[in-house]
Amino acid sequence: MCGIVGILGRKPVSGQLVEALKRLEYRGYDSAGVATVENGELGRRRAEGKLQNLEARLADEPLMGRIGIGHTRWATHGAPTETNAHPHMTKRVSVVHNGIIENFNQLGSELKSAGVELSTDTDTELIAHMVTRELDAGHDPAVAVQHALRRLEGAFAVAFIFKGHDNLMIAARQGSPLAIGFGDGEMYLGSDAIALAPFTDTITYLEDGDWAVMTREGVAIRDREGMAVERPVQKSVASALMVDKGNHRHFMAKEIHEQPEVVGHTLAHFIDFANERVHIPDLSIDFASLNRISISACGTAYYAGLIAKYWFEKLARLPVEIDVASEFRYREIPMERNGLALFISQSGETADTLAALRYCREQGQNIASIVNVRESSIARDSDLVLPTLAGPEIGVASTKAFTCQLAVLACLAIAAGRARGTLSEETEVELVGALSEVPRHMSAILREVGAYDALAHTLAKAGDVLYLGRGVNYPVALEGALKLKEISYIHAEGYAAGELKHGPIALIDEAVPVVVVAPRDGMFEKIVSNLQEAAARGGQIVFLSDAEESAAGCDLMTAIKLPAVHTFTAPLVYALPMQLIAYHTAVFMGTDVDQPRNLAKSVTVE
Ligand code: AGP
Repeated sequence: MCGIVGILGRKPVSGQLVEALKRLEYRGYDSAGVATVENGELGRRRAEGKLQNLEARLADEPLMGRIGIGHTRWATHGAPTETNAHPHMTKRVSVVHNGIIENFNQLGSELKSAGVELSTDTDTELIAHMVTRELDAGHDPAVAVQHALRRLEGAFAVAFIFKGHDNLMIAARQGSPLAIGFGDGEMYLGSDAIALAPFTDTITYLEDGDWAVMTREGVAIRDREGMAVERPVQKSVASALMVDKGNHRHFMAKEIHEQPEVVGHTLAHFIDFANERVHIPDLSIDFASLNRISISACGTAYYAGLIAKYWFEKLARLPVEIDVASEFRYREIPMERNGLALFISQSGETADTLAALRYCREQGQNIASIVNVRESSIARDSDLVLPTLAGPEIGVASTKAFTCQLAVLACLAIAAGRARGTLSEETEVELVGALSEVPRHMSAILREVGAYDALAHTLAKAGDVLYLGRGVNYPVALEGALKLKEISYIHAEGYAAGELKHGPIALIDEAVPVVVVAPRDGMFEKIVSNLQEAAARGGQIVFLSDAEESAAGCDLMTAIKLPAVHTFTAPLVYALPMQLIAYHTAVFMGTDVDQPRNLAKSVTVE
């Protein structure tokens, strides 16, 4: 993920900016840069590769400005070159950006039509030009930024400095986090509190939609409607090593709310947004030669694999053999040599998954893995590693890693379909478009979490909870049940909704909540019939859908309205309600949300 820093200092800031960027290295990057205002003029230094390259550049060509911004870039739009490195700038403004501007094609066309010459392949450069045009129209910097922000769609965090202003920095947050730090006659800005740890432990976090006007004397924060707002100022416990909880009570809450940002970054690593095509770096798999894929994982990662089974079989007409690793490793599955075995693991250290991998290696399989820890055992034993860019996941209950796994698998299934000639270019563009909207849909859900609080009071009293889903959302129901039971300790089961009448319906009475994953897709009418069967027996229906409540055709205990999403991306988006139901119920019940009883973050023993 990219990292942003900013300092309004009392002495030259370029060295401090680099120090702050070093604390964001854990996020991963491939280029970096800083910009300052010196004697009213904007100055910039950038370098490909690691921060020491930027430090060398600054040693050769120092910047002496006392106000500046810095950035570590994980390439999304445009190759990891110095030209594409941030900060981007025009004569009047410099900007750093973390996130994805979904409508950048449209904005780019508008700017080119207005005669603007673009010099990079990035979406960020467009933002600099948009603010400059507002400044050229006579608006002051705050109004210029506000007008430009209103045009941007997607999940992003941005920070600006301006020619002629050595005591003004403007920042904005839409999905990707931003922290503001308070110093003695100085002010700071960072993607998280870790970046600010060397300068201050007094911080505040911008909320989604906030934008901030900063001077050395303080900060004025406004919400998306432009109303002045106060955000809590707190003592940060971040250190150079610790990952910080941000504004949240639990790591799990922070990680749930990071999903728009980290899913966006993971998608950007596997999608060429400019051409709306999937691009898997170093893809060494010849999908056309495969007769089958084997997938093995545990827990939540296994459910990601189950969802991918639907995608590979539908998009690439490629049969998938999948099993939990603890079974897979002992089944002695007959395997055609030179087949593909895919392993999914957040930690990359799960013993059963590693053992299943080694079984497949012995069976002459090509090994690919999707991991969140690049230097993990599973990654080291793989021929191909496809990274999730979720950043450190501290909560035992997996959340952002799961949706990032789905992001990688969705791109892989598209690549497989294209390689096997079963997916048209038109369909690929449609599916990539749907994926690019996922961060925005996630942000929308995360802005409306009140309903989950109310629902928690009811679920907390339940002895059994059923989760129902159909098709590609059946594994989403399984994941929802796992989330609830592992952090609230309430027994829950996920079921294919069509299976209800083959047994589970015997469980249902007025004491049993039934959570129904019901996006309006080709199976919607069928799952509505299933939920009506449950309601007819007293089941307390929790209806999760983009459809109106009335579409359920029966009494509902709760209806939570969700964004209308493409069938293909529903599992990524509906994962969030699954997480939020479990989180709010566990918080209400007072369990240890981040470290639930009996569980470990990584099960490194059999
Ligand atoms: C998920 O919330 C659980 N913490 C657990 O099922 C986890 O997904 C499983 O242990 C696999 O872990 P891994 O992804 O690190 O391999």
